[in-house]
Amino acid sequence: MPALFDKTTLKGLELKNRFVRSATWEGLAEADGTCTTRLEHLVSDLAQGQVGLIIGSHAFVTRQGQATPWQLGIERDACVAPLARMVAAAHAHGSRIVAQLAHAGRLTSRDLTGQPPLFLSPSAGKDPSEYQLATAADLRQLPGAFVAAARRAREAGFDGIQLHAAHGYLLSQSLSPVFNKREDEYGGTPAKRARLLLETVAAVRKVVGDAYPLLVKLNCEDALDDGLSLEASLEIGRMLQAAGVDAIEVSGGTLVSGPLSPSRVKIDSEAREAYFRAAAKQFKAALNIPIILVGGIRSPQLAERLLAEGVADYFSMSRPLIREPHLVKRWQAGDLRPATCLSDNLCMKAAREGHGLHCVVEKRLMAKAH
Ligand SMILES: Cc1cc2nc3c(=O)[nH]c(=O)nc-3n(C[C@H](O)[C@H](O)[C@H](O)COP(=O)(O)O)c2cc1C
Ligand code: SF4
Repeated sequence: MPALFDKTTLKGLELKNRFVRSATWEGLAEADGTCTTRLEHLVSDLAQGQVGLIIGSHAFVTRQGQATPWQLGIERDACVAPLARMVAAAHAHGSRIVAQLAHAGRLTSRDLTGQPPLFLSPSAGKDPSEYQLATAADLRQLPGAFVAAARRAREAGFDGIQLHAAHGYLLSQSLSPVFNKREDEYGGTPAKRARLLLETVAAVRKVVGDAYPLLVKLNCEDALDDGLSLEASLEIGRMLQAAGVDAIEVSGGTLVSGPLSPSRVKIDSEAREAYFRAAAKQFKAALNIPIILVGGIRSPQLAERLLAEGVADYFSMSRPLIREPHLVKRWQAGDLRPATCLSDNLCMKAAREGHGLHCVVEKRLMAKAH
């Protein structure tokens, strides 16, 4: 029977356990996206905490695709050397690390990037001068930005890359009937909506070669009226597998999906944990490539059961590792109490205010203790 602390290989990449740090924007890069020593230290801490695979925070592939302030960038060759130091910090403690490549699409602002956000379709209630409506020619060029970023990730020593096609960012917008109402070759049918992602996968695969791990983070559904459905997402999963993707991280919801956002609050019972487990089970049944489950993983006992039941192969966490970067090490040492994270999302607010990502609750407790 497979176990959480078994060594595995994912497309030739040896991983010391089945725990993954899901991509987590930290607000700790320079204003221009350059990686910092604070990010090196954060990654080093996660690696010392025995996380098997670290997924780097979403890195923008073009300046227009930057989503948030102090976000990591990978859009210039000058980004490579500082990123290489962060990669080395993961490797020094036996963790593997992949780069998450992202474009925000409509989920950004001119104030942040100096450019109008890129929209796939006109938006009711928004003045067309506020955004750039992507032409088919624009979309034909976009995979090139991901390709250049993938090449930089490889040069920096990352063990693989993950395309961010979840949570309502550009690649996820293109899959979603809510955000993609195009009638050209990039929209109108599920297959055409998948075109941008599939063209990106094909272009990236060509430049990184067959042996390099290529992962995709995918919404199993958008949790929006008329958004991406589970059925459509499973079909996309099949297409991604056929296109040579090596693993899919199953997430869901968008930043405008209210309580069904990717990072749900009030995970206070086992029933509320692992909230995409039913979807992951369907992905496992439909595909042969490894499935990484993210969203509300809080107790090792449940993860173990989901592994034994064949619901997922890897278990990915974001907020629990903000509060306890050494959580995996704690579980490995036999302290099997659930993650102490309260899932209140207060850390997001702190990062948005420019304080850098940290657990606000933990900081308060530490202040009280002293
Ligand atoms: C502060 C913060 C930043 C995040 N940044 C990213 C990101 O850069 N890329 C991404 O795919 N997901 C991002 N997420 C979503 C997480 O990776 C994860 O899918 C979600 O929080 C659910 O997992 P959890 O319950 O373990 O937190 C972020 C979540 C948080 C809380
Ligand atoms: S502030 Fe701390 S307890 Fe709250 S969600 Fe973030 S990591 Fe968890």
